[in-house]
Amino acid sequence: MLTSIYNMNNKHKESLEAWDTNAEFWDSYMGDESNFFHCDLVRPYTERLLDVQIGDLILDIACGNGNFSERLTQFGAKVVAFDYSDKMVELARKRRVKALDSIEFKQCDATSWNELLALANGRKFNKAVANMAIMDISDVEPLFKALSEVLCVSGSFVFSTHHPCFTQPNEDYFSSCIHKGVAVEGQPVLQNYYHRSMQDIFNIAFKNGFYVDGFHEVPFDGEKEPIIMIVRVTKKQ
Ligand SMILES: C[S@@+](CC[C@H](N)C(=O)[O-])C[C@H]1O[C@@H](n2cnc3c(N)ncnc32)[C@H](O)[C@@H]1O
Repeated sequence: MLTSIYNMNNKHKESLEAWDTNAEFWDSYMGDESNFFHCDLVRPYTERLLDVQIGDLILDIACGNGNFSERLTQFGAKVVAFDYSDKMVELARKRRVKALDSIEFKQCDATSWNELLALANGRKFNKAVANMAIMDISDVEPLFKALSEVLCVSGSFVFSTHHPCFTQPNEDYFSSCIHKGVAVEGQPVLQNYYHRSMQDIFNIAFKNGFYVDGFHEVPFDGEKEPIIMIVRVTKKQ
């Protein structure tokens, strides 16, 4: 048990180091407008499920270079966006300089319930979003627990992630495991991906008082199997 916690902590540190190392590459690849994958596969259903209203306060979890944070402001939302990579946060602030009236960028670790509560600082969010990040986060339990506290009544959380049924790294779908991969071809170092079965992800949400009320499986154009899933979970009253 101790060994596995030790290994998990080591992996978490290794993941953060990889994202720090890859931050500049990621930022210049995603640029101001983001890439095809994000614009064509992630955004359409995410935006539909989020249903942003003018004046919404939205938490953008693991925001990368802030491409979606800025997009949210174009719909009239105020955004608190965070990433655990200091470098990524610095690059996001630089790239989104014109939107800083509406976006607060912070460094925060999604695996830390304490940090998440401190980030909220008593505020309640109408909505939260995590684009293509659940599979990068070493432990998602603290995140769901914190969201159940910082989202307002009936607040919802929309996340997109690798579809666990179609991107599992080995034959053992049910066992959580860590594997190496790339987000973008040519990135300086490989990153860790955290595979979890669908029931493992959903049961964490259920345990923390959420129900699933939106679900899409998205393939590459013309493909017969999805590559990602986009889920909306909403807090029970
Ligand atoms: C694939 S990128 C997605 C970035 C952004 N959401 C987007 O769609 O452009 C994954 C991001 O998750 C961040 N991340 C991974 N683990 C994290 C954690 N524990 N806390 C906060 N951010 C994390 C990484 O630094 C990286 O910016």
